[in-house]
Amino acid sequence: MTYKKWIKLSLSFSTGFVMLFSATLFASSEDVIHIDQFISPDTCGGCHSEIFEQWENSMHNLAHKDPVYLRVAQFLRKGLINENQIKEAESCVKCHTPVGHVTGFPQKLTDDLSKTAEIATQGIQCDYCHSVESVKQMYNNGLVLKPGQGEDDPGIKYGPFDDAVPDFHEAEFSRLHTDSKICGTCHDVKHVAFGTDIETTYTEWKNSPYNSKDPQQKITCQGCHMYQKPGIPATGSTLRPENPGSATDDSDERPHIFTHYFVGGNSSVPGQFDGEAKGQMAIERLKNAATLSVDTSQVNQKKLNITVTNTGAGHSIPTGVGDLRQVWLEITIQDKANKTSFQMGALNNKHELPKDAVIFRRVFGDGNGNEVINIAKAKQVLKDNRIKAKQSITETIDLPLVPEENAIIVVRLLYRGMPQKILNLIPGKPFAPLPIIEMAKFQTLL
Ligand code: HEC
Ligand code: HEC
Ligand code: HEC
Ligand code: HEC
Ligand code: HEC
Repeated sequence: MTYKKWIKLSLSFSTGFVMLFSATLFASSEDVIHIDQFISPDTCGGCHSEIFEQWENSMHNLAHKDPVYLRVAQFLRKGLINENQIKEAESCVKCHTPVGHVTGFPQKLTDDLSKTAEIATQGIQCDYCHSVESVKQMYNNGLVLKPGQGEDDPGIKYGPFDDAVPDFHEAEFSRLHTDSKICGTCHDVKHVAFGTDIETTYTEWKNSPYNSKDPQQKITCQGCHMYQKPGIPATGSTLRPENPGSATDDSDERPHIFTHYFVGGNSSVPGQFDGEAKGQMAIERLKNAATLSVDTSQVNQKKLNITVTNTGAGHSIPTGVGDLRQVWLEITIQDKANKTSFQMGALNNKHELPKDAVIFRRVFGDGNGNEVINIAKAKQVLKDNRIKAKQSITETIDLPLVPEENAIIVVRLLYRGMPQKILNLIPGKPFAPLPIIEMAKFQTLL
């Protein structure tokens, strides 16, 4: 007897006990997807070759292999004894190794990850996203899948077309695939025990002007991230031209084929896996995300007003792991003799930022107001001064003295993936310092 029949049968006795019992069965019936049901991305790439090349070495492809993720995860897990904290620290594989998790292995971070099936090491992949039928909760990966039975019977691949008739697999239009929700359920992360909002990219987008009721104005995640290609950053402050072409090597041309690079701010990890071009695309994206302006009208009162505007991102800057990402202001004043008379937010020779630097970020607390670095211990958000979509933040900087006439003021908005201080805490071979990307620059002569 299959689980489904069992549930129907037990529901016909309407006692509380049976209801509870069948609910348990229902939960376990989700785990019955077998790893052999998933088809390798290489097979999909046999026909969808361009899409495959875009996705290959993307952060989705690398989600399970990304050394930064793996080493941070091991580091956060170490030494925990509190059950709730352990539960959170073990939960990573649900999004970073989703094909493994949904088919039973790995279930937690401390499983022997070297035993992960080859296909599951390929991260967030074709047959995972295109087997999605619905979403049951909008955080911590609530995707519900209906994969086929492997290559002999590939089943339905859900996508944006309502008229596709491929011969290898069946195809069906799915509204969900055209909606931010398919991205959002993984891009909103909550602490599994404490409920703390760890990542809120989807919620940030949902509350932003990009989630407009007017369909002409609305820009989904796909509307920026699946229009990007080399040389075309496709952000809120640039054009996002359509990408005419065909979905396979020999199907009819369509007005737009969604690109699959899935580029964010990560410019260093793809390059470690032959994906240098994707690293370059991340830089193009970051350089079209924000603008800077500087008001010098109060310099005689020893004040400098610096305004940062999020012109290009459909969510806060930074987003995602907003406690790790660093976006900050570097301010330099040079006098006539080219001597630096004032500097703020400059890295020291250990690649660390001074205490007084203006950093846009999110800080977690332990529930008693003390800052924590380990998200497993995060019970509250202590501070969040990130720049929301289309929002401006003005920072007033107190200068120690009135700058000389003809001094040059240079302000830069900089990005890096993580503070050096945290990188240094991670045991093992030291990480090379992460690249620093100049997102915006403003220069003026007094
Ligand atoms: C993170 C989820 C995700 C992954 C991984 C993914 N896709 Fe897609 N794909 C989508 C979404 C979402 C759309 C439709 C976007 C829309 O309509 O807004 C799409 C569209 C498509 C289409 C329709 C043509 C087009 O691009 O517009 C094809 C074909 C396709 N994907 C194949 C693939 C293949 C092959 C892979 C693996 C190499 C892959 N996808 C990986 C989410 C994904
Ligand atoms: C034998 C060639 C072939 C293979 C292999 C193949 N596809 Fe397709 N696929 C097609 C064709 C042809 C279309 C239709 C293109 C069109 O109508 O423009 C298509 C369309 C799609 C669509 C769009 C469906 C829709 O209704 O929007 C998705 C999604 C898709 N394929 C995903 C995949 C995935 C995932 C794999 C691997 C599991 C895969 N394909 C393997 C040939 C193939
Ligand atoms: C209006 C265009 C736009 C929309 C809509 C948009 N993004 Fe972005 N996204 C950007 C830009 C620009 C960046 C680079 C700046 C940054 O990192 O914030 C970015 C960066 C990212 C990053 C990397 C963040 C980091 O630095 O670690 C992720 C992840 C991301 N987006 C996911 C999403 C998701 C999920 C959605 C939908 C809920 C979405 N984006 C909607 C433009 C957009
Ligand atoms: C199954 C969960 C899942 C789904 C669904 C998903 N993502 Fe992701 N995404 C991830 C994970 C995990 C990473 C980070 C991998 C890493 O950095 O190790 C990521 C990374 C990214 C990045 C790169 C971030 C960076 O720092 O450069 C972008 C951009 C992105 N996703 C956009 C999207 C968009 C757009 C969609 C919807 C079409 C989507 N994602 C759907 C889990 C998911
Ligand atoms: C609900 C889905 C989800 C879960 C669970 C999850 N992540 Fe992620 N993770 C993401 C997404 C989405 C991103 C991409 C955001 C970004 O790039 O800023 C990401 C990015 C990261 C990054 C940045 C990687 C880089 O190369 O810079 C690290 C580190 C990370 N996650 C660690 C973890 C750890 C450790 C856990 C478990 C305690 C975990 N994640 C659990 C979705 C998830």
